[in-house]
Amino acid sequence: MASPPTTSDPTSSPMTSIAQGDATSFVAGASTDTRAMDARAAAAATATAISRWLLVCALFVAAMVAVGGYTRLSHAGLSITEWKPVTGALPPLSHEAWLGEYAKYRASPEFQLLHHWMSLEDFKGIYWIEWSHRLLGRVTGFVVLLPLLYWVVKGALRGRRLAAVLGVFALGGLQGFLGWFMVASGLVRNPSVSHFRLTAHLLLALAIFVALVTMGLRIGDEARPSERVALPRVRSFALASLASTFVTVTWGGLVAGLKAGLVCDTFPLMHGSVIPANLFVLSPAASNLVNNGLAVQFVHRTLAYTTAGIVIATVVTTMRTAAASASVRRAAWFLLAAVVLQVTLGALTVLTHVHLHTALTHQCNALLVIAAALVLAHRASAPAVRSA
Ligand code: HEM
Repeated sequence: MASPPTTSDPTSSPMTSIAQGDATSFVAGASTDTRAMDARAAAAATATAISRWLLVCALFVAAMVAVGGYTRLSHAGLSITEWKPVTGALPPLSHEAWLGEYAKYRASPEFQLLHHWMSLEDFKGIYWIEWSHRLLGRVTGFVVLLPLLYWVVKGALRGRRLAAVLGVFALGGLQGFLGWFMVASGLVRNPSVSHFRLTAHLLLALAIFVALVTMGLRIGDEARPSERVALPRVRSFALASLASTFVTVTWGGLVAGLKAGLVCDTFPLMHGSVIPANLFVLSPAASNLVNNGLAVQFVHRTLAYTTAGIVIATVVTTMRTAAASASVRRAAWFLLAAVVLQVTLGALTVLTHVHLHTALTHQCNALLVIAAALVLAHRASAPAVRSA
């Protein structure tokens, strides 16, 4: 810091005083500028770090969806019959402890009706899968919670933004509960989980994923100046693609929960027809749309084609928008590629009688479709301005 000129200075004349005064205010002004630049650089660095953290959290949620899908498809989801958030983090550590867990599983309807052939070694196989699924859930909790505490203590997260992050964290807690609520529905006389609860669990995971990616992208905006221009039409189409994907995923969850992928294994026709017979065997008729496996698969396919149509319209709109930059166009093509892959994987899932890895890839790729729609919507929107 420059010190102000003093009249007691023997070398000071009126001229030198003015010159010194100018220099001093110039130096002070420059240091204020430097401080402002430093503060801006620090704010940008914090925004980058928070944005990356949120996107990493989204990746963990995606990993949870993948491991959850693997758990379901390998029939391991009901192997742990209790929900102990803290003590359950430790697997059985002795032979006696394993026997105890095995005894609880042997008492479960799933063992008695479906898995009665399972030895202790077979049981260990499915136990480890479900245990890893739950462990990943716990690790995800820490990946969210510890940096969250750090940013709050540092004062980098406050106001509306803190409320938004806490809201997502609360949804994560609800997701853990919903996971258990779903498993509990399969621990009764009929050893298969409710397809509605399974779908709710999947949809909440995807909603959390969307919230994290959206917040991550918008906070990331603050870290660097952007030349982006708002393209409202492209953005609306991207959001319509996202909404349609969500509706399609809802019926995907019902297909998975009802094991309805096995009721028709032909493509593109269903049992030789565009519209198969026996779509309305249950009464009331509307109940077929969510409870009759064949109708549920039919609805899922129809929604999938609708989504693909909306995505094609999105690409056409983007290409026709003169102001769309190369990065917006790339995002639109990427969305199209993701949805074409998704429909192909869906077809392969039915043709292979729900082969584990094919069905799992189909489930995971839905996240790619969602992420692609979000990125396109983001690139077609005006850059975010710093809020709280
Ligand atoms: C935009 C297109 C599509 C999306 C977003 C989508 C999404 C999904 C999702 C997320 C699931 C998994 C639900 C869960 O595991 O809880 C699913 C399941 C399924 N989908 Fe799709 N899907 C699409 C297209 C298709 C198509 C075109 C077919 C068939 C021709 C199809 C057949 C299936 C089947 C059979 C299952 C159940 C697989 C299982 O039991 O794990 N999907 N879908």
